[in-house]
Amino acid sequence: MKILVTGGAGFIGSHLVEALVEEGHGVRVLDDFSTGRVENLHAVLADVELLEGDCADPERAAAAVRGVEAVFHQAALPSVARSVADPLPTHRAGPTATLTMLVAARDEGVARFVYAGSSSVYGDTPTLPKREDMETHPLSPYAAGKLLGEHYARLFARLYGMETLTLRYFNVFGPRQDGTSPYSGVISRFVEVLLAGGIPVVHGDGRQSRDFTYVANAVAANLLALHAVGLAGQAVNVATGRRVSLLELLETLARLTGRPAAAQQAPPRAGDVRHSRADLGRAREVLGYAPAVDFEEGLRRTVAWLRERRQSSSSGAEEAGESRSCAAD
Ligand code: UD1
Repeated sequence: MKILVTGGAGFIGSHLVEALVEEGHGVRVLDDFSTGRVENLHAVLADVELLEGDCADPERAAAAVRGVEAVFHQAALPSVARSVADPLPTHRAGPTATLTMLVAARDEGVARFVYAGSSSVYGDTPTLPKREDMETHPLSPYAAGKLLGEHYARLFARLYGMETLTLRYFNVFGPRQDGTSPYSGVISRFVEVLLAGGIPVVHGDGRQSRDFTYVANAVAANLLALHAVGLAGQAVNVATGRRVSLLELLETLARLTGRPAAAQQAPPRAGDVRHSRADLGRAREVLGYAPAVDFEEGLRRTVAWLRERRQSSSSGAEEAGESRSCAAD
């Protein structure tokens, strides 16, 4: 199949692109490289068609969907905290881009559109685990935008007969997730800080919990969505079905990195959800999904990757330093 992955140079998108190439599909990537990086695609660069551009630009969107049979819309500007500080860029990269891609896909007659949704849409509703038929209650512009994207995806199934599906990702983590900014996902942030010999910042009491999901599980759900029948715009949780508190997370990461589990306390973040855990019944039913990589194994792989990347970038810096000093000689 010919497939478009928006945000294909990003964290989750690049893993998905690799898997699609491995399955023998022809893959086009649309990415504006705001957070994506070409290096994320280095293993498959020869096999993919790379388009640079903004998903909210109708002309780029139209060029990107030309001739494709399915779209995986992964592009977004992540971070709840960033969206609270500066809502407009999140909105443009979120629902505006999603609607633009949906319109382009409809006009091109693309049959299937899989949308990267978010567990943040549940907000602070009290019941756990979260089931897709429960009410939604977004607490941040990021979450509201993700929910609006879901509504559009559902409407395009209903109004135009496209096969659309929302995958509600629950705190996806893994290699290639950026850990260098305060807006980074907490796992990559904590590992980056621990490996640098620092003390992670914990917002609030650290007892908030998440259903942390290793990236290979999100990729697997997308691959299943490519072949699932009868998609009618529904939303499906993608998670592991277990929740872990930030303090438990920090303890495990401290053990894996050989660092003390000390934390700097900071005030809770506005827009933060307290607890999150998914029910996976619908994912099983609609997609035949079950998580293949558990939390601990995912953490081991993530720590190993970040450790290796730090080592190779510091040896790269040393080499660059050496050659600079040679040149200066
Ligand atoms: C939310 C969504 C998630 C989505 C992500 C995109 C929920 C439940 N989850 O993640 O599905 O993929 O947005 O951005 O809404 N924290 C610290 N110290 C740090 C960084 C974070 O204490 O240095 C805390 C945050 O305040 C939060 C928790 O860690 O309580 C997780 O934060 P983060 O990794 O940013 O993800 P969510 O906002 O939960």
